[in-house]
Amino acid sequence: MTITGCIFDLDGVIVDTAGYHYLSWKHLANGLGFDFTVEQNELMKGISRMDSLDVVLSIGGIKKSQSEKLELAKQKNDLYLSQLSDLSSDSLLPGVQDFLDLLRTEGLRIALGSASKNARYVIDKLGIGSYFEAIVDGNDVSRSKPDPEVFLTAADLINREPAELVVFEDSQKGLIASNQGGFISCGVGSPEILTNALFVIESFSGLNTSVLIEYIKEAKSKKTRIS
Ligand code: BG6
Ligand code: MG
Repeated sequence: MTITGCIFDLDGVIVDTAGYHYLSWKHLANGLGFDFTVEQNELMKGISRMDSLDVVLSIGGIKKSQSEKLELAKQKNDLYLSQLSDLSSDSLLPGVQDFLDLLRTEGLRIALGSASKNARYVIDKLGIGSYFEAIVDGNDVSRSKPDPEVFLTAADLINREPAELVVFEDSQKGLIASNQGGFISCGVGSPEILTNALFVIESFSGLNTSVLIEYIKEAKSKKTRIS
């Protein structure tokens, strides 16, 4: 089997901004008079800012006009951005930089597929922009994950077929998007939560393409044995 490239989600895969998103939504919810838990936050991973706001408001049983929603989304985003001032290459999650270096050395294509409209800003702060041949983010797509648009657009831009590309995702919605697009879906995080992944890694530490291919083969053979 051959892998010709990798598409990375951003928040929670390359950098732990997922925690900042959560704290910002929680702050907004608390200001509106209700709580927002870590478990509820799983629903928000991978979806757009406005879709996330709808989830938060429905949890609180609150209705807002469109202009009020835009104002709340702006408040959340301002709070989120205010937590990113110290972001630097030190903020990369374990093993990410080494894995990107390996991919580049081996000539694999590298792309980003994120729902975030802040993705380019975050990538710049992390100092890893030069690794990515394509960046597709929340500004470039009209449909949120679990729609595969973001990953299919990235695959087109790097001129590779989905079946040869590994998508790294920390969210169930992102993994569904990856599966629907025909990609090889690797969860990053907990196997208990990321049940839509073909296989799950805890982190990028120690990962290389040979290990990755072994994981894929093993996961595919298990699936064949089960079904
Ligand atoms: C995704 C996050 O990457 O981006 C979501 O998983 C977030 O939690 C979404 O809501 C949109 O991000 P932003 O930066 O455009 O508000
Ligand atoms: Mg994510």
